[in-house]
Amino acid sequence: MISYGQERPFDKAQVEALLDAAFGPDRFNKSSYSLRDNVDPIAKLSRVARLDGRIVGTIRYWPILVRDLLRGTDSEALLLGPLAVAPAMHSAGIGGELMRMSLTAAAEAGHKRILLVGDIGYYSRFGFKNVLPNYITMPGGRDARRLLVKQSASMPSLPAVGKIIPAVPEGSMTAPALVGSYDRGLPVAAA
Ligand SMILES: CC(C)(COP(=O)(O)OP(=O)(O)OC[C@H]1O[C@@H](n2cnc3c(N)ncnc32)[C@H](O)[C@@H]1OP(=O)(O)O)[C@@H](O)C(=O)NCCC(=O)NCCS
Repeated sequence: MISYGQERPFDKAQVEALLDAAFGPDRFNKSSYSLRDNVDPIAKLSRVARLDGRIVGTIRYWPILVRDLLRGTDSEALLLGPLAVAPAMHSAGIGGELMRMSLTAAAEAGHKRILLVGDIGYYSRFGFKNVLPNYITMPGGRDARRLLVKQSASMPSLPAVGKIIPAVPEGSMTAPALVGSYDRGLPVAAA
């Protein structure tokens, strides 16, 4: 039977192996990885699925800022991802369960805006919408067309023109308030 729980520091090696299997070695070239350099995933929201003690699914969340390029203001948000399920276990509902349970945890923790880079065909069922026509890019000016958002009704609209930036002061090794208890100083290998 599949069990679900919070990702623990000792899960890291298995999670990284699963991400390698799901996304391949090029995953570190994704625009989202630069937002994760020296930043830990948010432990309270990141979840794993286990089968007989083996990790078969993972979802992680990271702190980010959305910069309004017209007004010059920043607002806090979460970046969801990566989400991955072991290839042999696809279409068994594991990805959906990881999405639902972590989105509930994020809402309970007071997070009101979540962005991700992914396929609307999968993520619309969880309430995500295209950020377009608001033109917001990931680092490197990338992924505006695949950027999706889910936010609470009380949130103001996203900036008309913006970019996603790390929620970490320049030169800092880790985000100040939102991070979990992962080991410091090691490269974080999640996309
Ligand atoms: C995307 C992924 C996490 C879904 O996990 P899962 O456990 O198979 O998901 P679920 O069982 O909840 O849902 C499966 C359904 O989603 C559909 N689906 C999967 N990826 C999809 C996509 N990119 N676009 C549209 N539908 C998709 C499947 O066809 C399946 O449909 P069905 O129920 O009609 O058979 C998994 O396919 C995966 O790990 N893919 C590789 C990594 C990846 O692409 N991650 C997402 C990018 S951030």
